[in-house]
Amino acid sequence: MSNSQVKFYSGENIPLELHKTRIVQKLHLVPIERRLEALNEAGYNTFGLKTTDIFLDMLTDSGTNAMSDDQLSSMMRSDDAYAGSQSFIRLHKAVEEVLDKKYYLPVHQGRAAENILAYAYVRKGSLIPMNYHFTTALAHITERGGQIAELLYPEAYVLKSAHPFKGNMNLEALEEYIQKHGKRNIPYIRMEASTNLIGGQPFSIENLRAVRAIADKYAIRLVLDASLLGENAYLVQQREEEFKNTSLAEIIKIMTGLADLVYFSARKLSSSRGGGICTNDESIYKELESLVPLFEGFLTYGGISIREIEAMAVGLYETQDETIISQSPTFIAYLVNEAEKKGVPMVTPAGVLGAHINAMEFCSHLPQTLYPAGSLAAAYFLISGVRGMERGSISNQRDEYGNETYADMELLRLAVPRRVFTLSQILYVADRLAWLYDNRELIGGLKFVYEPPVLRFFMGRLAPVSDWPQKLLAKFRKDFGDSL
Ligand code: F0G
Repeated sequence: MSNSQVKFYSGENIPLELHKTRIVQKLHLVPIERRLEALNEAGYNTFGLKTTDIFLDMLTDSGTNAMSDDQLSSMMRSDDAYAGSQSFIRLHKAVEEVLDKKYYLPVHQGRAAENILAYAYVRKGSLIPMNYHFTTALAHITERGGQIAELLYPEAYVLKSAHPFKGNMNLEALEEYIQKHGKRNIPYIRMEASTNLIGGQPFSIENLRAVRAIADKYAIRLVLDASLLGENAYLVQQREEEFKNTSLAEIIKIMTGLADLVYFSARKLSSSRGGGICTNDESIYKELESLVPLFEGFLTYGGISIREIEAMAVGLYETQDETIISQSPTFIAYLVNEAEKKGVPMVTPAGVLGAHINAMEFCSHLPQTLYPAGSLAAAYFLISGVRGMERGSISNQRDEYGNETYADMELLRLAVPRRVFTLSQILYVADRLAWLYDNRELIGGLKFVYEPPVLRFFMGRLAPVSDWPQKLLAKFRKDFGDSL
């Protein structure tokens, strides 16, 4: 059962909640004057904000999905043991039953898996073809001297589109790339479920099967980043004819079954903390096994707290539950639709993880050198108290010569974690977006005042290039009076 199966008599398309809320958390909607102070304290970087100044936290779904009653209660029976814990045995069984992989190596979160893969397989000169990079995956590969190639079809870069699978790997480009560079330099091909940085866009199973065939032809391993696999599987069920009557559980197994190695952030996949690497190939397991105690912790906890291991096991089973997995994508689709109705340039089709706004169009008066996505994220927080995340050039890393590289897309991402927000909150998000869009000319640019060398978007500090935040505040007060 998914909420898209419930029709309203009124004919309205409303994503009905199929859960009830029993533990709640008070939010802070502080006046806009305080939000401006908070932005200054945060260096105009939404990562620097504190939740006491935030109304709706749409920074990410990572570690912020609502946990279920079953997950919370499972944490009470955790079997704390350094080695051989029963909790780990339950988690291992969940990995086998849900992801269909025999061997499992626990790690404390997704990027720890990326670190281990890069450490084991990436050398200077290694080339990793992928459908698209994720920030931490790229950073680990380049730290080890490797390079990546993003091989998408042109439609992936069309922000307003009806293409159901913009995350598909460009098969012709992949084969050409392998022939040109030689399989010896390519330790693995990486497929990211629901390509995060291009708007949470899924790939199809048809495409994954074709990538598998190419991997087989050239005897190159296929690695699946399954952090957002549940939602990618849900969109396969919704959009790929062959799977419209296939259960989520089955679709997930088909997808993991096509990869030699699957890794994931459990902060996303199973609404918990933690992560993992799993495979059915004993030789892969042996290659990676010793790196877990080196970097993470013993093989039966991998740096994850035992309580979280229990929650992760239950959360993995819950990724098979359509009532849970359909909630975020249907809320995102609702938000995208509401914002589009008001003229806001949204990335379409609606994907997973969050709603994405095309900042290059929203702030068409700002060149990429002034970071339109970062500016929009700051401006939107100022006028709404909603914290989004910049997914544009600030999130890009400099090239090997230290030159600035500009992102393919400048996006503001508004994450919709699973089962966290209500529909009236989503309507507030769309309402404030519409106001900001009508006042977009007031948004100015940003410049770096502190730029760390690695993953600069996390700790970087920026400053506005003019007094535009004050002008935006004044216009808000003029239009909204004393409203929060
Ligand atoms: N892979 C993908 C596709 C991700 O989205 C993330 C994290 C990771 C790997 C790394 O996992 O955070 O557990 O170390 N994405 C978060 C986000 C941070 O906000 O999109 P991690």
